Amino acid sequence: MEIILAEAAGFCFGVQRAIKTAHETADKTNPPIYTLGPLIHNPQVVAELYEKGIEVCDQPEDIDAGVVIVRCHGVPPKVLTGLHERGMKVVDATCPFVRRAMRWASQLTDEGYQVVIVGDESHPEVKAIYGASGETAWIVETPQAIDELPAAKRIGIIAQTTQSTANYQQCVGKFIGRSEEVKAFDTICTATEQRQFSARELAAQVDVMVVIGGHNSANTKRLAEVCQESGARTHHIETAEELELWWLSGADKVGVTAGASTPNWLIQGVIQRMTEFTDDKLRPEENETVDNTDEVVQEAGVPEGEETKPVEQSETPAGEAADVGDAEEDQEEPQEQEEREEQMADYGEMLPTLTPGTIIEGKVVQISGDEVLVDIGYKSEGRVPFNELGLKPDQKPEDLLSVGDDVNVWVLKVDEAEGSVLLSKRRADAKDAWEKLESIYEQGETLEAAVTQTVKGGLLVDVGVRGFIPASHISRNFVDNLDKYIGQTLKLKIIELDRQKNNVVFSHKEVLEAEYQEAKERILSTLEENTIVDGVVRRLTDFGAFVDIGSGVEGLLHVSEMAHSRVNRPSD
Ligand code: F3S
Repeated sequence: MEIILAEAAGFCFGVQRAIKTAHETADKTNPPIYTLGPLIHNPQVVAELYEKGIEVCDQPEDIDAGVVIVRCHGVPPKVLTGLHERGMKVVDATCPFVRRAMRWASQLTDEGYQVVIVGDESHPEVKAIYGASGETAWIVETPQAIDELPAAKRIGIIAQTTQSTANYQQCVGKFIGRSEEVKAFDTICTATEQRQFSARELAAQVDVMVVIGGHNSANTKRLAEVCQESGARTHHIETAEELELWWLSGADKVGVTAGASTPNWLIQGVIQRMTEFTDDKLRPEENETVDNTDEVVQEAGVPEGEETKPVEQSETPAGEAADVGDAEEDQEEPQEQEEREEQMADYGEMLPTLTPGTIIEGKVVQISGDEVLVDIGYKSEGRVPFNELGLKPDQKPEDLLSVGDDVNVWVLKVDEAEGSVLLSKRRADAKDAWEKLESIYEQGETLEAAVTQTVKGGLLVDVGVRGFIPASHISRNFVDNLDKYIGQTLKLKIIELDRQKNNVVFSHKEVLEAEYQEAKERILSTLEENTIVDGVVRRLTDFGAFVDIGSGVEGLLHVSEMAHSRVNRPSD
């Protein structure tokens, strides 16, 4: 029996981020620490967190002290406001995909659209998005449910991040032609899409699919549905102990996939248990009696007595848009269909294409434990780790940025599979700084910069990148104490610039020299013989004194011209 693990399975970046945030919070903070509802939909991970002192609390009003971690599904904004008003310390571990969906809900509501959320109204994420819409959104789970809705001229559609793409597209398609204006945001997270795609591909090649993940995990349940739709005998389990030997009976190939909240050790545990099964331990006769149609629904943890929604079967290939169940009444003319497809295609264009190495504009939406989240108009918010902010020594992220600030960021990495985007402010700033420096250099202009530290042979300045002033270029005179320049802002001229080598060298002396020559010319042009000027003695020599008569321009007062009487030494 061959066991094949789906290419994309297990923890997504949103879950990894939430767990990391929770662990860091536990390491840094004394209990009590709570999560509002389970941090993620996996009881084993929640149990691990409990061991670290992180408890699950379902009602925010039950918490009156300690730290509250917002789960990766997010919470309605008013819950967050309530916690802040009560002085609670809040650590927000909301997945960047969910936050983005919440902000779109809020924005569409503000713009006067009737927001529609395609998702499960009992799911915490949908509740959070609903809250972000000011509790005005309509929630639908299937295209059929749209028939029950009243008419609205302007519709804004948002998907629960774990929705199946096909279902979401069918819902969007249903609104087109029904409302005058439809604005749809495909907020299905890339990790979900990727896992569903891998599961579907694998399920088509194997006899049995085992889907691992929390019974209340929406994305795991969806994976199980996808596998079952592909025709594989599908079983949704939470742990290796739930695996039944006879499921694998007669199977040559068994596929394994796991929801985005399933840790790797659980996946490996299930695979290990499978490898312990041999054909003679299996009971083939029982396999023939298995009714797989109900199995997934039953195993997916739908509470007893609750109405279950069986998976719709469709002729349409998975992933393609089609109105399941309304096929006849929704038969379209080719032209109408073309127009609709065109409109559908337009939605994809709302998202920018992100290319590593380019700079884009964004807005700061959150400053968390070790990163800044930036809204870049993408499906998920981009993440700038603190070490990519370009912080100066002793500078905190809050000293540099605030929520709501516009910021230019460099795209470091786009993880297509996970949909996560890694950004750098430091590199965007550096690129901008180099371009400005190159222009200043070409034009022969000067700039001002603060001295940050002394190094061997000179000073360092901060000009967006680090620049160097050699000791011989600090002043027109010899400088023996470099320390006095720290913190001073100096006017500088670029004397060397090499972007490839990350090297820029400045001279303050050349600026002083130029200023001196200019002042000298100006003063000399105004001086007349036999007139009197005031001056300050700057230096003494054996033959006289050098007198500053303005702007550092010095004239020689010869010893013979110092007094009517004889002067032996100018210092007298
Ligand atoms: Fe976020 Fe998608 Fe995972 S919404 S928590 S990245 S499944």
